[in-house]
Amino acid sequence: MFACYKSFILTLTALFFIQDYPNHNLLHPTAWDSPEVVSILVYFDDEEECGGATAVVDKEHADDPNYQWPYMKMPGVWGDVDWINDRTTAENAMRKSSPEVADFRSLMYDKEQYVKYIPGTVVLYRQDTWHRGTPLKPGTSRRAANITIAKKSARGRICNWGRGWASEAYRLDRSLLKLIGRLSPTLQRPGLGIPPPTSEFWDGMQIHAASARYGNYGWDPEPYLQQRRKRQHQRLASITCVCVGVVALSFGLARKGRSLLSDIYCWLHVESSLTNSRFIKRWHSFE
Ligand SMILES: [Fe+2]
Repeated sequence: MFACYKSFILTLTALFFIQDYPNHNLLHPTAWDSPEVVSILVYFDDEEECGGATAVVDKEHADDPNYQWPYMKMPGVWGDVDWINDRTTAENAMRKSSPEVADFRSLMYDKEQYVKYIPGTVVLYRQDTWHRGTPLKPGTSRRAANITIAKKSARGRICNWGRGWASEAYRLDRSLLKLIGRLSPTLQRPGLGIPPPTSEFWDGMQIHAASARYGNYGWDPEPYLQQRRKRQHQRLASITCVCVGVVALSFGLARKGRSLLSDIYCWLHVESSLTNSRFIKRWHSFE
């Protein structure tokens, strides 16, 4: 049911707030209550000696403004703001691009809490958790193993950061994002693990989130919307058939009463003599 991706030693961590999905996931995290991936950090050093505690921002309630879809308000994802690992440079670039988003981000620094660690500390976290690294003490380094465990249904689309293609998403030239935006939704994207438009994965929220992430790179949501409408029509047709059947049966029963039941029984009786089915034998045993 789950696929485990290789761990690697991590010495680099963003000093500004990010979520980890952009460089692990070709698309966007699934809904909060149905996550498909968990990341694990295993620390090998002591926070008191080298600093570098990981800061996180809780999701406090369902409507928490920090956790509203789609998750876009970070360097490397937002507009043309590059992922440069310097808090001041990154936040200034965000402010230049959007003062409103910069204000949103500055509030997170006020809310952050720190994960203290010693050798062997294990942290399990979601890839949509807002977090950041804090500066190391001079002359030290922080070593950690990062492990990603994802549902098999997400295989190919979600990977670890070290060697996977999603780690290329932060490239300054955005070449991976541009490539994915251009690929065929039915013939090429599925080869990377992105579900085809016919997949149930594409609910309204995922279509919106993918458009938000790739809209500037040529991603056309229409094939996904078309297939979703088709699935909705099919579902509606099935529900309508069942409802019509139930209404017709109720109507028939009301009109014919026991005579309709005896029609059904007679039909089953004929069937039983032809098929000798166990179900019908049981039916007879109740006579
Ligand atoms: Fe991270």
